[in-house]
Amino acid sequence: MEKKVINLALAGFGTVGTGLARIIQENEDWIERRINKKLVIKKILVRDLTRIRSFIPGPEAVFTDKVEDILADRDIDIVVELMGGLDTALRLIQKSLENGMHVVTANKALLAEKGNELFSLAHERHLGLYYEGSVAGGIPIVQTLKNSLAGNRITSLTGILNGTANFILSEMTSRGQDFAAALNTAKELGYAEADPTLDIEGLDAAHKLIILIRLAHGADYPLSVLPVQGISGVKRTDVALAAEFGYVLKLIAQVREKSGHLQAGVFPALLPMDHILAKVDGPFNSILLKGNAVGPIMLYGQGAGDLPTGSAVLADIMALARDKARIDNTGFRERALPKAHILEPDLAVSRHYFRMTALDKPGVLSAVSGVMGEHNISIAQAVQKPGPEGRDVPIVFLTHRAPLKAVLQALRVIDEFNFITGPTVHYRILK
Ligand code: NAP
Ligand code: HSE
Repeated sequence: MEKKVINLALAGFGTVGTGLARIIQENEDWIERRINKKLVIKKILVRDLTRIRSFIPGPEAVFTDKVEDILADRDIDIVVELMGGLDTALRLIQKSLENGMHVVTANKALLAEKGNELFSLAHERHLGLYYEGSVAGGIPIVQTLKNSLAGNRITSLTGILNGTANFILSEMTSRGQDFAAALNTAKELGYAEADPTLDIEGLDAAHKLIILIRLAHGADYPLSVLPVQGISGVKRTDVALAAEFGYVLKLIAQVREKSGHLQAGVFPALLPMDHILAKVDGPFNSILLKGNAVGPIMLYGQGAGDLPTGSAVLADIMALARDKARIDNTGFRERALPKAHILEPDLAVSRHYFRMTALDKPGVLSAVSGVMGEHNISIAQAVQKPGPEGRDVPIVFLTHRAPLKAVLQALRVIDEFNFITGPTVHYRILK
C-alpha cells in the first residue's frame, strides 16, 4: 500500500525554503485533501545552525549543516534543493538521484549549466527532477510548456524574466531615476541582491531562457553561446527618448523558431507602449508565447519571493507525491536532449533605435544617413535634439526592419567618424 506520508528534506531554508514551509503548514489540510498524503519536513540543511529563524516548521524537522545527513536518510522521499549555488547543490542533486530520491529544485543557474547531465541521470534512474520554481517564480510556465501546450510547436517566446531588472527599468521610466538610483531603490525594497550582477547583466534571465528553450523546443542550447546583454549600461536619456517616441525599454529574453533553427538572446529592447508586455511593470514577470495551434498565450505574475516561488516548488512536490510512476522531467522522451540548431544571432531582423552623440556641424546627418543607405538600412524617423552649434548633440534614428548584422556593420563605420564623440547607443525595437 502507498504510504500516507511523504518525507521531505529541505536543502536550504532561506527566502524560498521558509516560504515553502509556511505554505505546507498553512495549507496542510488542503494539500492532504488533494494528494491524500501528508507532507512532512524531516530534515533541513542550512549553512549556519546558530542563525535565528523567522519560522520553524513542525517538531519532526531536524536542522543540520551536513549534506550527508540528508543523503544517508533512507526515509526521505523528495530532496528539495533551495540553497542555490553550483557545487554543493550539484553534488547534492547527483547523490540524491543516485540514492533513489526524487529532487525538486528552483536552481536555474545549475539547471542552465548542468541540466542535460542531471536530466540524463534522473532519466536513467526513473526519478523526478522537477523545477517549476526555477523560471519566473510563481508563474506556472514549466507545467504549461510540458503539459498544456505539449502538442504545439512554439514559434516564439518572449519573456520579461527578471523582476529586479524590470523593476529598475520601470523606476527609470516612471520616476526618471538614473540606473544607479533605481538599483539602490531595488536593493532597499529587497528586490536586488547585495550583488545584483546576475540580474542586471542579464545572466539570470539567460539561465531561465535556457530552461524554457529546453521545454519549448526539446533542445539543448548551450548557455555559453547565448547572446546576453544586460541593463547596466542603460542611460536615463534613452529611457526618456524612447518614451518620447512612444516606446518603453524592457529587458527581453526571446527565442524564435525559423525553419527548425532557433534564434535566441537576452537584450534590452524598445517595446511600443501598446505592446502587451510594455504594461508589465515593477518586479513582475511575464511570458508571451505563440503556439502553432493555440496562437498567443500570455502568463503574468510574481517572478520571485518566498510565497510565489514556494507555491511553484510545492506544486512540484505535490505532483511527485500524487504519482511517482508518471515522471516527466523535460517533457520529451529522449535520455538527453539533442543540441539545438542555432541560427546566427546577427541574422535577426527587427526595427532599431540608435542614439548618436555628434558635433552639431554641416554634413553630419547626410554622412550618417549615407552609411545607413549603403548598408540597406531604411530610416523611419530621425530627430536631432537642440543644442549649441558646434557642440555635442544627441541624434536619434529609428529604422525600418533591418538585419542586426547590417546594423552592427553600419555602426562600426559611423562610430569611426571624427564628428561622433561617443559610442552610439543601439537597441532593437520589438513589434
Ligand atoms: P537564500 O535566501 O540565500 O537561502 C539559501 C539557503 O541555503 C539558506 O538557508 C542557506 O543557509 C542555505 N545554504 C546555502 N548554501 C549552503 C551550503 N553550502 N550548505 C548548506 N546550506 C546552504 O536563497 P533563496 O532566495 O531562498 O534561493 C534559493 C534558490 O531558489 C536559488 O537557487 C535561487 O536562485 C532560487 N530562486 C529564488 C527565488 C527568490 O525569490 N528568492 C525565486 C526563484 C528561484 P543559511 O540560512 O544558514 O544561510
Ligand atoms: N533575481 C531574480 C529576479 C529572482 O530578480 O527575477 C527570481 O529568479
